[in-house]
Amino acid sequence: MSRPVVLSLENITMQFGGVVAINNLSMEIPEGNITALIGPNGAGKTTAFNCITGVYQPTNGIVRFMDKVIVASHPTGKDLKNYKGWNADAYAGMKIIDPTPDQITRLGIARTFQNIRLWKSMTVFENVLTAKHMRAKQNVFSATFRANAKEEKRMRDETMALLEEQGLDRFRDELATSLPYGLQRRLEIARALATDPKLLLLDEPAAGMNPQETLELSEFIKQIRDKYGLTILLIEHHMDLVMGIADYIYVIDFGSEIAQGLPAEIQSNRKVIDAYLGVSEDE
Ligand SMILES: Nc1ncnc2c1ncn2[C@@H]1O[C@H](COP(=O)(O)OP(=O)(O)OP(=O)(O)O)[C@@H](O)[C@H]1O
Ligand SMILES: [Mg+2]
Repeated sequence: MSRPVVLSLENITMQFGGVVAINNLSMEIPEGNITALIGPNGAGKTTAFNCITGVYQPTNGIVRFMDKVIVASHPTGKDLKNYKGWNADAYAGMKIIDPTPDQITRLGIARTFQNIRLWKSMTVFENVLTAKHMRAKQNVFSATFRANAKEEKRMRDETMALLEEQGLDRFRDELATSLPYGLQRRLEIARALATDPKLLLLDEPAAGMNPQETLELSEFIKQIRDKYGLTILLIEHHMDLVMGIADYIYVIDFGSEIAQGLPAEIQSNRKVIDAYLGVSEDE
């Protein structure tokens, strides 16, 4: 009955100077599920993504991806002295593993950003094709000199197919940043999919979208989950979207988990209502 766990966070703490942005967060993301991470502004959601994807080295804790430890850290030296989180010695002595975002991409984890980050001087097509190259087996030289023409053609065809799927094929030669906002978000998802991920992290994919676009996006997220066999971790403030598509929800506030459960359980959870759902949505 229970699905294998694709991603797990164990006791992740991220401290910036004296600020504990994430405090001892643990999560398990089962294969094929859409798991949501919600919480008020500044709760630490994006920081959690940054710890998973090698942007930040967490101060403490480990991240596992498909049974492999991909991130491991524990506070040492000055950090240990200033440490305000929990479980300071839980991973003491363990080898620190601090991958680059690029290594994380190659493992099969892709993300989109809260503030859209497309390659500005590239066209729509080039944005997706370049992402494909990042995951491709060929090295920089064969990519540059087109030594492997067959592989290059396959990547171009797959890029076109991804653009068609997103309804972006007719904009293929436009500059990515010339697209309307909603389409830029779609393009960011296409670019993430181009790296052939097993796990997709979406940071507020519906931000700035109107209700109709948000509804379409929820359908679309379910479709790509099924089509590509993805496991998805989603940060989102649009509660309709979250409650409609999440299989399971974690709620954090001031960096700490305050609740986890099924959507119906979260909606009626007193702590969550007080901390978050009770206040008006800001976006
Ligand atoms: N690089 C950094 N240096 C110092 N503090 C940081 C850094 N990154 C994040 N923080 C702090 O960590 C806390 C959590 O921020 P984070 O961006 O993760 O929140 P969030 O839950 O994604 O909020 P939002 O819903 O507004 O996007 C905030 O107090 C933020 O100021
Ligand atoms: Mg954020």
